[in-house]
Amino acid sequence: AMIGKGEHRHFMAKEIFEQPQVMGDTLNAMFNPAERTITLPDLGMDLKDISRVTLIGCGTASLAASVAKYWIEHVARVPVEVDVASEFRYRCPPLPEGGVALFISQSGETADTLAALRYAKSQGQRVIGVVNVPESTIAREADAVLPTLAGPEIGVAATKTFVSQLMVLACFSLALAEARGAVAPDRVAALSAALAEVPSRAVEVLNHDKRIRDIAADLAEARDVLYLGRGTSYPLALEGALKLKEISYIHAEGYAAGEMKHGPIALIDETVPVIVIAPSDGLFEKTASNVQEVVARGGRVVLFSDAAGIARMGDTALYAIEMPAVDPFVTPLLYALPIQLLAYHIAVHKGTDVDQPRNLAKSVTVE
Ligand code: G6P
Repeated sequence: AMIGKGEHRHFMAKEIFEQPQVMGDTLNAMFNPAERTITLPDLGMDLKDISRVTLIGCGTASLAASVAKYWIEHVARVPVEVDVASEFRYRCPPLPEGGVALFISQSGETADTLAALRYAKSQGQRVIGVVNVPESTIAREADAVLPTLAGPEIGVAATKTFVSQLMVLACFSLALAEARGAVAPDRVAALSAALAEVPSRAVEVLNHDKRIRDIAADLAEARDVLYLGRGTSYPLALEGALKLKEISYIHAEGYAAGEMKHGPIALIDETVPVIVIAPSDGLFEKTASNVQEVVARGGRVVLFSDAAGIARMGDTALYAIEMPAVDPFVTPLLYALPIQLLAYHIAVHKGTDVDQPRNLAKSVTVE
C-alpha cells in the first residue's frame, strides 16, 4: 500500500510522532501486563546458559547496541561486547562458546552486518537477528529473530526503528536478568512496569515539539554542536550528533561527558551549542560538574533533564526541556525523542532534504 505523510511535512516527522505507538506495539508482543512478565520469542536456547553477548550493527543500530550494553551488563550481569559491523567482521575476534550474538538492523540487508553475522555463526555463536523486515536476509540467516514492530520506515535517518530496537533490547536484558536470577523478581517486574509506561510518557515528551522548534531556530546557524552524556545517555549523545550531521549537515560530535576534558573542551566558546542529556540518575552530579566547565567557557547549554535535574542545573542552561521523571532504566527510550526533534527542526530551518539527505542511503547493501 502507498504510505503517506499524513498531516506531516516529512516522513521523518510522521515517524517521530509514531514512536509511542511503535514502542507500545513492540513491547506488547513480549509483555504480559497482568503478570508484569516478559516472554521472548523462542531463541532455541536456554537464556540462563548465555555467558556472553555480542551486539553488532551499523549507524543508528550500532548505537541501540551501545545502549543495550549498559542495560545487559547492569541488570543481567553478563559481559557484553559491542562493535560496528565493519570493524567486527575484519577484526575476526575470538568468540567463546556459550555466546550469543545479536545483529541489529532495520533493513536486515546491510552488507557489513550480514557479513558479521556469518562470521559469528562460523565461530559457533548462536546468532539472533533484531530486524524490522521479517523476510530480510539477516532474518533468514539468523538462528532466531527478535522483531522490531516499527512498520515501514521511509525517512533515511532512522527514528522509530531506533526506539523499537531499544524496546526489544530492553526486553532481552530483562528476560536475561530474570533467567539468570541476576536481579530480584520484583525488580524485574518494576522495570517491566516502567517499560509499559514508556508509550504514554513518550506522548508527553512529543508535546515539547513547538518549544524544540524554537530552540532549533536559535541553533541552526551553529557550525559545530557538541552532545554530552554519561551511562546510557552517552550513546544517546552519539545518536543526537549522528542525527544532526545526517540531516542538517552541521558538524556535531557526541562525547562521554567525563571525556570532554581530554579534548573537546578546547572547542568550547559562545558559538558552540552543547546539548546535555542528563536525567537525574546516579551519574547526574558528575554530568552537572561537566556542565559547569562548559558554562565557565561561555558554552551555550541546552539541557534535557527531569524536574529535579532542572531544579539543580537549569539556571546554568540557556534552554532546558523538562522530561518525565522515570526509572533511569527507561530514559533512553524517552530522551531519544527530543534529540530527534531537535535535529529535525534544525534541518527544516536550514531547508535541507530531510527525508533524503545528500550522500546517504536508507539501506547500504554494498560494502
Ligand atoms: C544507513 C541508514 C541509517 C542506518 C544504517 C544501518 O546508514 O542511513 O539510518 O542506521 O544504514 O541500517 P540498518 O538497515 O542495518 O539498520
